[in-house]
Amino acid sequence: MSDSFHVPDAPRPGACVQSPRAKGEPRFPHGPQADPAGSHFERRIRSFQPRRSRVTAGQAEALRRLWPQWGLDIDGSRVLDLTDLFGNGNPVVLEIGFGMGEATAQMAAADPDTNILAVDVHTPGQGNLLSLTERSGLSNVRVANGDAIILLREMLAPDSLDGLRVYFPDPWPKKRHHKRRLIQPEFLTLAAARLRPGAVVHCATDWEPYAEQMLEVLTAHPAFENTRADGGFAPRPAFRPLTRFEGQGLDKGHVVNDLLFRRVPHEDRPEPRDNPEQPADRHRHQPPTGA
Ligand SMILES: C[S@@+](CC[C@H](N)C(=O)[O-])C[C@H]1O[C@@H](n2cnc3c(N)ncnc32)[C@H](O)[C@@H]1O
Repeated sequence: MSDSFHVPDAPRPGACVQSPRAKGEPRFPHGPQADPAGSHFERRIRSFQPRRSRVTAGQAEALRRLWPQWGLDIDGSRVLDLTDLFGNGNPVVLEIGFGMGEATAQMAAADPDTNILAVDVHTPGQGNLLSLTERSGLSNVRVANGDAIILLREMLAPDSLDGLRVYFPDPWPKKRHHKRRLIQPEFLTLAAARLRPGAVVHCATDWEPYAEQMLEVLTAHPAFENTRADGGFAPRPAFRPLTRFEGQGLDKGHVVNDLLFRRVPHEDRPEPRDNPEQPADRHRHQPPTGA
């Protein structure tokens, strides 16, 4: 008689998960659900390429187990209460495009009194960051799945953010794709509406034409001012670890530029200027020298 109860071998660490799923059945029943392309909202040019990515067994396990606790689906259904989301009233910094999340976890560990709302559409990265968060015993990271534009526009209240980090956004080097670049005037206007006065927008890129574009649009935007007295790029501040994508760029000989711009006080609600010696994310980090 044949053995009808075949018990599969335990997945090897790093192995790709290929569990059979019925059509329409969610990939991770208790994991990220929102459609990353946000196609249920609107037709719009996106700054990312939706892709079906290989998820390792470890990442899948982290998604299944930790998503209900630390995950957030960007479905545009409500405005978030960030105090409720993090369980405290500490300042919140949004990081757009954390990739595999190593730098995010390091920054969260170095600054436990700042909450990081980390958003990406990349499922393996979401699983990886959840794992890192658990392994490092962090309680100040939440992992959001979906398009950061919808998160900013539909789910974050005015003045709710104390900082914004965009490290090595997709460079979209071809001219016909430039419209997909994240850092554009309209994006900055949306971000400005969610950032408190004094909050710092911190961008970094290894693609020099994009760095020039970032400097141009940030400098021209009335809601932001350069923390650098010379109006230029900043050296990498000590609080920003090297990121995975940055390492690949450096291996190719690329030059990395950081930009740190401060949200100026609202025109209609003037506030006292933050002390320039205050941290870059408004509360903690020192701006780079020359700021
Ligand atoms: C080039 S990778 C850089 C990842 C990481 N910051 C690093 O330096 O290694 C850019 C990331 O941004 C994400 N991304 C781009 N546009 C996004 C958006 N609108 N919302 C959420 N994530 C986005 C992509 O999925 C990708 O993982």
